[in-house]
Amino acid sequence: MITEILQKDEFTKADLLQLLKVEGQDLDLLFAKSNEIKKKYVGNKVYLRGLIEFSNVCLKNCYYCGIRQSNESVSRFNVKDDDILAMVQFAYENNYASLALQSGEIENPTFALRVENLLKKISSLSNNTLGVTLSCGEQSKETYQRWFDAGARRYLLRIETSSPELYQKLHPSDTLHSFTRRLECLKNLQSIGYQTGTGVMIGLPFQSIENLADDLLFMKRFDIDMCGMGPYILHRETPLAKYENLLLPDKERLKLSLKMIAILRILMKDINIASTTALQSLCVDAREKAVEIGANVLMPNITPGTYRNDYNLYERKPKTSLQFEGKEEKITTQKFGTVPIGYGQCGDAPHFFNRKKTSV
Ligand code: 5AD
Ligand code: SF4
Repeated sequence: MITEILQKDEFTKADLLQLLKVEGQDLDLLFAKSNEIKKKYVGNKVYLRGLIEFSNVCLKNCYYCGIRQSNESVSRFNVKDDDILAMVQFAYENNYASLALQSGEIENPTFALRVENLLKKISSLSNNTLGVTLSCGEQSKETYQRWFDAGARRYLLRIETSSPELYQKLHPSDTLHSFTRRLECLKNLQSIGYQTGTGVMIGLPFQSIENLADDLLFMKRFDIDMCGMGPYILHRETPLAKYENLLLPDKERLKLSLKMIAILRILMKDINIASTTALQSLCVDAREKAVEIGANVLMPNITPGTYRNDYNLYERKPKTSLQFEGKEEKITTQKFGTVPIGYGQCGDAPHFFNRKKTSV
C-alpha cells in the first residue's frame, strides 16, 4: 500500500494522511524514500547557516512562545552591532558561507534602519559572499524591499499553522496577530525575489493530523523554497502551557516531526529543509536523524553564550551542543550524523532557480 503511494508524483490529502500515520516497516520505507530523493535532488550534504539570535525583544504575544512580550521574567537583550559583526566575521572565517539573523518581531522605522545598515556592513565585510537569511517577522513590503536591496537574499517567516482557525487559538485576536497579514507578508517576500521560507509547529494542542496534511499542501501550493519546522515544545510561562494534557508524548511528537520532514521532502524534492533546534530538545540526536531522512540545512547557534540563555522560545532549548557551536570553538567535524557538511558552500535552494526557470 505505502509502496504505491511512494511511487506517485502527485499526492492527495488522503495520501498524505496515510503517510503521516505509517508505523514500523512502512515508516522505514518512508524514510528510505525521502533520503533517496534528498540525495538525488539536493545532494547528500548538510549546509550550515550560522545562527545569530540578535535580539529577544518582541512586541507580540503568541500564546506558545517563551519570549512573548508579556513574559516579564525574560531578561531582554539586544546584541550590539559591533558584536554582531564580530560573529559575522567568525562565520566568514570559519567557512559557514551563510548566516541567519533572527530576532523577535519589532516593526518600526528604527529597527528597519538598523537591520538595513547591518546588512550593508555584512555585505562589505564579506565581499557580498555570505548568503544572509533574515528571520525578523512581519514587516511592510517597503521594509522587505529595503532589506533585499541591502543584501538579504532569503527570508524565513513561519506561518506556524496553515489553518486560520488553529492560528486563532494560538494567538490573541488583534491586528498584531493576524493570519491574513502573515500570509500577505509571505506573498510580498516571494514577489520581491527572496528565497522564501516558511514552516509550522508540529504537535500543538488542538492540532489534528488533518491540519498537518493541510500544512504540507499549503507549502506545496505556496511553492516555498525553504522550510523550517519542528515540534512544539511547552514553555511554562505561556498561556498554552495549561493544555499540557493535550500533548502527544515526546517520542510521538518527535516521530511526527520526522515524518513531516520526510513527507515534505517527497512532496517538494528540491527545496531546502532545516533540521531545527526544537528537534534536539526532544532527543539529543534528533537533528542528525532529520538530516539522514531529508533535511539538508543546519543552523548552528553562533550567538555568544552570554546572550544565548535568554532566547528561550521554549523549554529545554539546548544551550550548547555541537562541537562547532559557539564562537569559542573552531569547526573540526566533517560530518553531521552520517551526512557530509557542505563547508564553504552557501547552499541555495535549487527549487528557487528551478521555480524561476519554469515561471519564465
Ligand atoms: N515550541 C516550538 N517552537 C516555538 N516557536 C516559538 N515558540 C515555540 C515553542 N514553544 C517557534 C515559532 C517561531 C520561531 C521563532 O520559534 O515557530 O516562528
Ligand atoms: Fe515574538 Fe516570534 Fe515569540 Fe511570537 S513566536 S512571541 S513573534 S518571538
